[in-house]
Amino acid sequence: MEIKPTDCDENIIIAYSPTESHRFGRKVIRFNVRHSSWKHLRRTIESQFPELAIVRLPTDRLDLVNAIFKSFRSVYLADTAVEYGINLRNSEAKANGVRTVSKVIKAEERHLQDLDHLVSRSFFGYRNHYAANSDLPDFDLTLAYREWTRSCVWSSEKTCFMFYSESDVCGFFAADTKGKHFRGLLSGVLPEYRRRGVFKEMIRTVKVAFLAEGASHIVTRVLLENDPVHKVLQREGFSIVRRYFTIHINLRIPHITPPSRRWGRVLASLGQEPRHKKARLSDYGLRLDRFYSADPR
Ligand SMILES: CC(C)(COP(=O)(O)OP(=O)(O)OC[C@H]1O[C@@H](n2cnc3c(N)ncnc32)[C@H](O)[C@@H]1OP(=O)(O)O)[C@@H](O)C(=O)NCCC(=O)NCCS
Repeated sequence: MEIKPTDCDENIIIAYSPTESHRFGRKVIRFNVRHSSWKHLRRTIESQFPELAIVRLPTDRLDLVNAIFKSFRSVYLADTAVEYGINLRNSEAKANGVRTVSKVIKAEERHLQDLDHLVSRSFFGYRNHYAANSDLPDFDLTLAYREWTRSCVWSSEKTCFMFYSESDVCGFFAADTKGKHFRGLLSGVLPEYRRRGVFKEMIRTVKVAFLAEGASHIVTRVLLENDPVHKVLQREGFSIVRRYFTIHINLRIPHITPPSRRWGRVLASLGQEPRHKKARLSDYGLRLDRFYSADPR
């Protein structure tokens, strides 16, 4: 999922999501909140004119969660995730005992077909935070994840490993490998190879390979309910860095006929290219919670 940081203060990182905006036909903006007052968060959301705001908040900020639910009409608590991290320099490298994985390669252009197959089958039936938002049209998540892993093969700042059992491919691990803190993005094991320790072997291999490539740390994000991943990461020396909620706020304006020229100006300002980039809804005497989706609930 490609994102473009548009703005950043220490406490809220704002990123425009071109891929998702295109996929859903609405302006998707992410807000990763570390610390913020409600007033500041609200003002920050308003300043970007999103049609779908995806807000990530520490799980101990229930005050902000409550304020969001109170202020906007169409809000979904879409997932809860845990971020793990490990300092590779303080971590022991464990040898793989009984092995299912016999070979690992870095995926290249010529492996894309096998990689597509791996990703589609590993993530078949998987649901992420977009599935929780019923205001969004259905889409094929495996297709999105295929695009994402392909982009990791093409980018010089990303790496995608493919793991084989004998001659058959069985798993993959894609990561952002710039800087010293490498970030695990997406990984999976084919259903017929699950519960045989493949993921554990993958993590052990990745730790050694990334240390050799100059990483000091690996961080990765996992959904709260994904027990096998928590189990393996904890056993392999990762510890929890933070926990956070993903909240979707639908702010798309449905079918409004502007009753006046002033309304027309306001609506125009909410399009992809606001005429005054710095303008806020409050500049027009309006509050954001008057704009909500056509969702009847
Ligand atoms: C999550 C996933 C990678 C785990 O792969 P795996 O090779 O089966 O994992 P392992 O065999 O190393 O198992 C790790 C532990 O979890 C347990 N486990 C695996 N699948 C399980 C399941 N469905 N339910 C309960 N426990 C499970 C294993 O038994 C093992 O525990 P144990 O050592 O105490 O027996 C795989 O299920 C998968 O690809 N899922 C879909 C995609 C996904 O969730 N990717 C990760 C997030 S990006």
